[in-house]
This record gives sequence, structure tokens and C-alpha cells, in this order.
Amino acid sequence: MAGLWPTVLTIRHPEQPDRVMRALRPRDRNEWEHLRAVNRSWLEPWEATSPEPLGQLKFRALIRHYDSEAQAGRLQPFVIEVGGRLVGQMHLSGITWGSMRSGSAGYWVSRQAAGQGIAPSCLAALVDHAFYGLGLHRVEVNIRPGNVASLRVVEKLGFRDEGVRERLLHIDGAWRDHRSFALTMEDLEGQSLVARWNAAQRRPQAEQAT
Ligand SMILES: CC(C)(COP(=O)(O)OP(=O)(O)OC[C@H]1O[C@@H](n2cnc3c(N)ncnc32)[C@H](O)[C@@H]1OP(=O)(O)O)[C@@H](O)C(=O)NCCC(=O)NCCS
Repeated sequence: MAGLWPTVLTIRHPEQPDRVMRALRPRDRNEWEHLRAVNRSWLEPWEATSPEPLGQLKFRALIRHYDSEAQAGRLQPFVIEVGGRLVGQMHLSGITWGSMRSGSAGYWVSRQAAGQGIAPSCLAALVDHAFYGLGLHRVEVNIRPGNVASLRVVEKLGFRDEGVRERLLHIDGAWRDHRSFALTMEDLEGQSLVARWNAAQRRPQAEQAT
């Protein structure tokens, strides 16, 4: 599968065109480094720290890393842009092919951009891309049990709870338990997750509760 898709891929959200997921570019450097710096304490409890913390890679080395991993078919790396400004990142990493065809989604948005439904709308677009663009069969999200905001993101999109995986990822200095959530192609019954999410958004609250 390696090298069969473009590394510089752009996903414009079909129903919210000001929301774009695209590759990190050299000219993003100042904006991206500023965003990371002002959000350090916001992200620290949830971001991978070892054994090779990507946060310590220099900007250009990070872009090269993303490109080569994408070319190898293991990673789909995106920054999230809203109205032309960077607000976060979303990756599909650890992509495996063969009889598994699965990838692991990870994401963050800035403290300032939180609470506007950016992560769920972009994750829905990423899942559609994974299933209907890349031909994957499964997308998982691994979340620390205390990350209430991220748990809400997968809950909103109907991910299935697959249970706890002990000491799964090295986060904030130690190996941390995570809850795994997943969707497989069958869960969408041929539908778009973006369309499903937007329909749910439009339904009155009372109806959603039933
Ligand atoms: C988790 C995260 C990506 C959610 O993104 P988002 O675009 O804010 O998602 P939503 O707008 O759907 O909000 C999700 C939940 O966050 C919480 N939330 C809302 N506004 C918030 C704010 N201003 N600050 C903190 N949390 C907020 C609410 O619990 C919300 O659920 P609700 O919509 O039922 O009220 C974001 O909080 C984040 O980047 N956190 C730090 C990094 C991280 O945890 N990454 C995920 C690792 S698995």
C-alpha cells in the first residue's frame, strides 16, 4: 500500500467549508510554534512523551517525519485550520494494512478553540476519509479515562467502547491506561459519518435524548 496516496492531502469539511484539514507546511512554522507554546499546559496531560517525543523534533524535521511516514503508508498527518488559522492537529497513525486495515486517530485543538465542536466534526471527516478514501476497515481512538472532553468527542460520534488497555501509551512521563473506542466500516452502514453527525446536530435535544 505504501506510497499509493498523496502525502499533501487536504480535507475540506463538506458541511463546514471554513474547517480544513491539511498537511503542515514550512510556512506554518511561526504560527504553529506559537500555538504549541501557548497550549503547552493544556496539552501536557494528554500528549505522548516517550520514547521519541515528537514535540522535541525541530519543525522541519517534524515535517520530514510526517512526510516519510505518510509515504510509507503508516500515517495521515493533518493540521486543523478554521477560517484560515491553525487551531490544532489530527492524525491517523499506526496504520496497518493486510487483514487488519486499521488506524488510530489522535487529535488536539487549542484551549481557545475548544467547545465549538471542531474535534468531532473533523474526526467525522477523518473517519469518512479513512473508510471511503483510504479503504481502511477500522478507526480507533485511545483516551485516558480522565479525559472527559475527549470521551465526549467519541461518544458524540457513536464510537463503540472496547474497554481499557492497561499502560497503553506513554503520556506526561508515565505509561498510562487508556480506554479504546472504535468504529468499523459496518458501523456506518454505508453512510457518511459527517452526514450522520450533522443530522444529529440538527435534531432537537429532546429527540436526541430518546
Ligand atoms: C478533547 C478535545 C480535542 C475536544 O475538542 P473540542 O473541539 O473542544 O470538542 P467539543 O467542542 O465537542 O467539546 C467536547 C467536550 O469538551 C468540553 N468542553 C467544552 N468547552 C470546553 C472548554 N472551553 N474548555 C475545556 N473543555 C471544554 C465539554 O465537556 C464538551 O462536551 P459537550 O459538548 O458535551 O459539552 C479538546 O478539549 C483538546 O484538544 N483537549 C486537549 C488535548 C486532548 O485531550 N486531546 C485528545 C487526546 S485523546
